Amino acid sequence: MTGRLFEPITLPTADGAGLRVRNRAFVAPMCQYSADAEDGVPADWHLVHLGSLASGGFGLVMTEATAVEARGRISPRDLGLYDDTQQAAHARIAAFARSQGAVAGVQLAHAGGKASTYPSLPDMPVATVPAAERGWSTVSAADGPVLPPLDPATALDEAGIAAVVEAFADSARRADEAGYDVVQIHAAHGYLLHQFLSPLTNTRTDGYGADERGRTRLVHEVVAAVRKVWPAHKPLGIRISGTDWVPGGWDVESSARLIRALADEHGVTWVDVSSGGLSQGGVIPVGPGYQVPLAAHLTGALTGTDVVVSAVGLIDHAAQAETILATGQAHAVSIGRAALRNPRWATQAAADLGTPAAALPHAPQYWRARW
Ligand SMILES: Cc1cc2nc3c(=O)[nH]c(=O)nc-3n(C[C@H](O)[C@H](O)[C@H](O)COP(=O)(O)O)c2cc1C
Repeated sequence: MTGRLFEPITLPTADGAGLRVRNRAFVAPMCQYSADAEDGVPADWHLVHLGSLASGGFGLVMTEATAVEARGRISPRDLGLYDDTQQAAHARIAAFARSQGAVAGVQLAHAGGKASTYPSLPDMPVATVPAAERGWSTVSAADGPVLPPLDPATALDEAGIAAVVEAFADSARRADEAGYDVVQIHAAHGYLLHQFLSPLTNTRTDGYGADERGRTRLVHEVVAAVRKVWPAHKPLGIRISGTDWVPGGWDVESSARLIRALADEHGVTWVDVSSGGLSQGGVIPVGPGYQVPLAAHLTGALTGTDVVVSAVGLIDHAAQAETILATGQAHAVSIGRAALRNPRWATQAAADLGTPAAALPHAPQYWRARW
């Protein structure tokens, strides 16, 4: 094998054994808005979509944001993992991804005040789905709109917070039973956990707000509860927004403190470093690899821990990914839209980097394609 991208990587686990991933090209979680019955159940689409990414050679295949309770879905057509029917359909996806030599991961999520929105599909408005169209009222860290033009959310009280923590743990138990190898807690992109982390949206004055310790408390409680049910031989990861891109918002230093604490206290061993999602006011330097400096900051700040850091965001080309890894800015890369354009991106990247044909990570059925 040539280069770092196709060197296997071990995601550390609490039992010390670690989970080997065949390469460092991970699939970024991407909502498909395809639970057409609005019941959170993965459909044929999800099996085919995620299955093609697995057979296309990615090391780790992540599901889209998968809600831990019905009101935590971003849109009515999002996935869930809070009932038996959903769990059975997830089990098919995990089994198929694994049969292709990929590691199967699920992103567990709660959209909080950004829930009940229309699917992000052509011709759909950016707005809250009204009750008349089976939308629902949303919850957050504080009363008020999380991101206009969405409807205002209602602040969770302590009992509501405890129920969210329990929902994450219950979905993690189901994720294990469904056969997923990796859980990633979604604490990025302005969804519920990020709404608690960020001073932009967490204006609480109780023990779940007030200062950084308070604002990070819910994430700590969720991760601790998941840790209790998630097996010691399976890696536990998290996705964060490394910055809100707004002065006075959540930033990369608070991110580094949080991940170090989660690693030390709860054995988190993988962080995927994204950004934004809460404010339209900041200046985001969108361009190739624009979030990589955030991952690089965390990689440096987490030296001495065993946390694997992955970079994401407009990493579209094999040589670009290779440079990020070779220069030590991250240990792995997550590929989003480039994987939608070409589900066999990983195989193509391996070929582009000079991997011999016999060692390409595609399914054997495709060998005659001769990348
Ligand atoms: C169609 C689509 C759906 C997405 N859904 C999710 C999601 O469910 N969870 C998440 O954390 N990020 C989601 N994202 C963000 C991606 O995971 C990724 O961070 C982003 O697209 C930037 O990476 P890229 O430039 O490689 O696409 C989504 C992005 C796209 C394009």
